[in-house]
Amino acid sequence: MEKVSLKSANLKKELIKIFKKYGLNNDHASISASALINAELVGAYGHGLSRLKMYCDRISKKVINPKPKIKIKKISQSISHIDADNSIGFVAADIAIKTAIQNAKKTGIGMVAVKNSGHYGLSGYYAEQAVKKNLITMIYTNAPPAVAPHGALKSLFGTNPICFGTPTGSKVPFILDTSVSMINRGKIRVAARNNQKIPKGVALDKFGKPTTDAKKALKGVQLPMASFKGSGLAWMIDILSGVLTGGNHAGRVKDPFDDFSGPQNIGHLFIVFKSNLFVNNFKTRIKDNIKTIKKLPKIKGIKEIMYPGQNKFKRFKENQKKEIKITDIVKKDLKILKS
Ligand SMILES: NC(=O)c1ccc[n+]([C@@H]2O[C@H](COP(=O)([O-])OP(=O)(O)OC[C@H]3O[C@@H](n4cnc5c(N)ncnc54)[C@H](O)[C@@H]3O)[C@@H](O)[C@H]2O)c1
Repeated sequence: MEKVSLKSANLKKELIKIFKKYGLNNDHASISASALINAELVGAYGHGLSRLKMYCDRISKKVINPKPKIKIKKISQSISHIDADNSIGFVAADIAIKTAIQNAKKTGIGMVAVKNSGHYGLSGYYAEQAVKKNLITMIYTNAPPAVAPHGALKSLFGTNPICFGTPTGSKVPFILDTSVSMINRGKIRVAARNNQKIPKGVALDKFGKPTTDAKKALKGVQLPMASFKGSGLAWMIDILSGVLTGGNHAGRVKDPFDDFSGPQNIGHLFIVFKSNLFVNNFKTRIKDNIKTIKKLPKIKGIKEIMYPGQNKFKRFKENQKKEIKITDIVKKDLKILKS
């Protein structure tokens, strides 16, 4: 796979230019460009530049609205409901997390539901914003059908990520951000585009046979993590982010790459709260919690017991010093989108 390198500042300028060409205003273009670059920097390539052309194609086909009239309905001092008017998901999520943070600062807890949104990338990216303000957060979104409910022969749930973030009393936040499938769909898409295999045990082909062929996996079903337990979590997230918010649910979220018959109407739920709601020494307690767990005897081959988010934080810091590497396919996408 041939790769070229670009400084992230230069790349950001290029991405803003592309998004503006497709009709986004400067702020929305900048929010979207930053989210894509962050995905590259944390090594989540399936949610980074490999999706740029998809977002632009959806704008061209009028199933993402580049000039949304986003409405924020205040339900109480703590609760807000956002109608994103089919904006690009990054913008809806950025407004939602900022609103949830504001509500939490005022009342101790902020809850924001979003409907009529689109794919917003990494939940952890928004969780980081709340944790940086010393707040705890739980974030849910649904996604297009990829995972078969336990006992069903057909995919219906998305890979529906579950995200929890908290300050740790150190500069490295605890961010558990995981899809409920064995691996996320973005990784399978990248493998399919680059003719790479996927690991065993993560997907079945359309006939229900285990496969390591990424293209066959995309036509078949992805397996939930931990069997019926993962299926249950995916279902819970579909209820919280779809049924509750007014977003699509029960398998009605359209696949952003393959289905241009209408907007996705994805739903998200952002919950943000202060860490001192019940105790006045959260920082001491969380430090003690992490220290106790990290001191446990380790199994052979493990140097350090890590908490969720530590690996991504390290990758981000390392990658920030380097240029961003761009695959040949992404280079071609950029050329098409700029012309
Ligand atoms: N918007 C969407 O529709 C959508 C759908 C699915 C996934 N996603 C995003 O894709 C991203 C990747 O998801 P994923 O399932 O591939 O995550 P992953 O498997 O890379 O990581 C899952 C979690 O495990 C933690 N982790 C990894 N290795 C660890 C270790 N050795 N010790 C302790 N913790 C460890 C990570 O920090 C992370 O919190 C997420 O950011 C998610 O939000 C988005």
